[in-house]
Amino acid sequence: MSDTQKRAAGEAAAALVEDGMIVGLGTGSTAAWFVKALGERVKGGLKIKGGVPTSEATAALARELGIPLLTLDEARELDLTVDGADEIGPGLSLIKGGGAALLREKLVWEASKRCVCIADAAKKVPVLGRFALPIEVVAFGHVTTANRIADVLSEHEIGVGPRLRMKDGEPVLTDGGNVIYDAACGAIPNPSALAADLKSLTGVVDHGLFLDLCDEALVASDSGVERLTP
Ligand code: 5RP
Repeated sequence: MSDTQKRAAGEAAAALVEDGMIVGLGTGSTAAWFVKALGERVKGGLKIKGGVPTSEATAALARELGIPLLTLDEARELDLTVDGADEIGPGLSLIKGGGAALLREKLVWEASKRCVCIADAAKKVPVLGRFALPIEVVAFGHVTTANRIADVLSEHEIGVGPRLRMKDGEPVLTDGGNVIYDAACGAIPNPSALAADLKSLTGVVDHGLFLDLCDEALVASDSGVERLTP
């Protein structure tokens, strides 16, 4: 059922793309529906300047579908970015990074004139923090950095320390070769203060708090796609 909703949100977002646009292509299962729907439109004659993928996985999917691609540096400024989220909180504050692509995603979002989040209704929360917050950390000395992250979390009255994300017995590496720690925060009392404190740690590359970046959200439920603004 949630896949039907993800698809509906992705297809609604693909309708926002116009000829001549440079479009940021998000990462994850919901963003993949958007990329597929965009691929259909490109096959049907839509002429975008290019898509800027936020991960190698999305780049591979877009290539398969015949979507022309640009790097972020070729694009510089994007007209529209469409991407999923792990949580949508008050004022369209988001947690992202469940797919380990948060750094490239944030770089692309920050270069975009308009950022649209697409999601199924289960992603909406009254307070951010139910989904464990992904934090991207430089691999060198990552255990030391994780201890410093734990100190920051406890200053924010978040009792649970970060856990290294693993897959098949190995740390998950991002496209940039970094590792991911997930912090099961519970409820994040002050997301913007936490964002600033995490970002100030040497060794932390970035975190999954996307604050004041999302211009609108297309959230699909059984009753249709709802458009939310901050
Ligand atoms: C990847 C992300 C994804 O957008 C997020 O994890 C949502 O994924 P999905 O659409 O598969 O639920 O931030 O880093």
